Amino acid sequence: DWTADNVIADQVAAIRAQVGDARVICGLSGGVDSSVAAALVQRAVGDQLTCVFVDHGLLREGEVEQVERDFVAATGVNLVVRDERKRFLDALEGHSDPETKRKIIGREFIRVFEDAARDIVAEGHEHAVHGEGSEVKFLVQGTLYPDVVESGGGEGAANIKSHHNVGGLPDDLQFELVEPLRTLFKDEVRAVGRELGVPEPIVARQPFPGPGLGIRIIGEVTAERLEVLRRADAIAREELTKAGLDGEIWQCPVVLLADVRSVGVQGDGRTYGHPVVLRPVSSEDAMTADWTRMPYDVLSVISTRITNEVSEVNRVVLDVTSKPPGTIEWE
Ligand code: XMP
Repeated sequence: DWTADNVIADQVAAIRAQVGDARVICGLSGGVDSSVAAALVQRAVGDQLTCVFVDHGLLREGEVEQVERDFVAATGVNLVVRDERKRFLDALEGHSDPETKRKIIGREFIRVFEDAARDIVAEGHEHAVHGEGSEVKFLVQGTLYPDVVESGGGEGAANIKSHHNVGGLPDDLQFELVEPLRTLFKDEVRAVGRELGVPEPIVARQPFPGPGLGIRIIGEVTAERLEVLRRADAIAREELTKAGLDGEIWQCPVVLLADVRSVGVQGDGRTYGHPVVLRPVSSEDAMTADWTRMPYDVLSVISTRITNEVSEVNRVVLDVTSKPPGTIEWE
């Protein structure tokens, strides 16, 4: 029988068997998957685990703070936060191809984890990291079953996109992967997380892709463009929450068409700004999705606020494509 308890018992045993006394790091994103994976590994091997939160500059407003406040407070997990904004921006400079961007982001994540692993070992005494040996041998990832399938790793290999935690890994990876959620769907992961005591705001959080806003800027990723998208995204999220739509909507990517400009008028003047796309979708497991028939008045408020408050954006458009043929994210 499938129960969250059984999954936890099985995975705790499997994790202990896999890692033994070794040290483990886990990339924490603040999302459901990595948080539940971290909580499972912590249940299994306790202080042998250190979580690494990578601030890659592709985050939405408030995300670093949320991880520190909610997750660490609830679980007491060892956490290292790394400010790697410059590193990711530099690596992404000049690239606008979606798969290239995904691969770069995936590669840089791993490099950061390698750096973090070295630092953790060097500072081992201070942080009272437990575990034998001088090396961090294992990397935990919150890979889910749909990630495996859609990156071409599962049966019926599809290879639609390189999800950063599956397809984007470098060949010379120095870690052995621990992926306790690899057979689970999102709703099952949420059930496991609740059973493990992961705080509700994290367990209920809508999905957000590992490559973050980097794959929601269509075109090259720059600091200025990120700032524009971050502001538009924060407005959309605030209004969706205010309208009580968070439960009904699976997620609502806001996408910046950074290489597209259109003419508009504001006050007495002509504008020549960028469009953003709202992509509200309803879904059971992200494998298929339909666009959410959300209230026009909420769309209207979001559109008015974004065009008023984000001067670089002069048009808001609605994506009315299901998956298939569209994917949820634009890249
Ligand atoms: P797509 O765009 O493939 O997205 O329809 C399906 C679901 O997966 C999320 N997504 C990702 N999650 N790493 C992740 O952890 C990734 O690289 C990634 N790419 C897409 C997306 O937000 C949606 O929920």
